[in-house]
Amino acid sequence: MSAKKRKKDDLIDFTIDGQKVQARQDWTILETARQHGIYIPTLCFHPAVYPWGSCRLCVVETRQGGRANILPSCLTKPLPGLEVLTDSERVQNVRRWVLEMLLAECPASREIKGLAAKYGVASTRFAITDPTEECLKCGLCVAVCNEVVGVRALTFASRGVKKKLETPYRVPNNMCIGCGCCVSVCPTGALQKRLDTVRGDISRRTGASFAH
Ligand code: FES
Repeated sequence: MSAKKRKKDDLIDFTIDGQKVQARQDWTILETARQHGIYIPTLCFHPAVYPWGSCRLCVVETRQGGRANILPSCLTKPLPGLEVLTDSERVQNVRRWVLEMLLAECPASREIKGLAAKYGVASTRFAITDPTEECLKCGLCVAVCNEVVGVRALTFASRGVKKKLETPYRVPNNMCIGCGCCVSVCPTGALQKRLDTVRGDISRRTGASFAH
């Protein structure tokens, strides 16, 4: 059945690791896996915000009609009859490669090192730009501040390897209410030390803030 002809409430039947599963029309492969208790590792996914698909750790192998693909499960919607493999040899190879890139991106993150070690990745072949970097630039903190808190206290500055998490105009932002949502969703621990650089010294505030 084509995607166009499917009705809104139809469930999609497909398999994950050989197990028959059903997805709602709006579920991704990752959401379906979670609904059925099937583990797929993630870093930049959080159910409270729209997925950005920036870490690529959640890759799975999909097979259908003689074609096989490696796709991020947090962004990919299933089709009827799709075969999904969450831990095939191909998936494991791609995931190890992704973890090497993540180790180069944020080499100081204990969380990333621990995750990499679980997959047998102890070092990286990619160039390390900043050995003290912990931020993955996954955008989860920016998204939760915008979409959930509605404050927009965080943003990204520059692009490519120079991309950095910043406050707008790179000054402490008195719109920040210090809720800590950004810290709690950060998958690498990078924001734990940075909350005060975002909100500034609360005792020195003079103007109106979001909280008042
Ligand atoms: S969790 Fe899917 S790309 Fe990060």
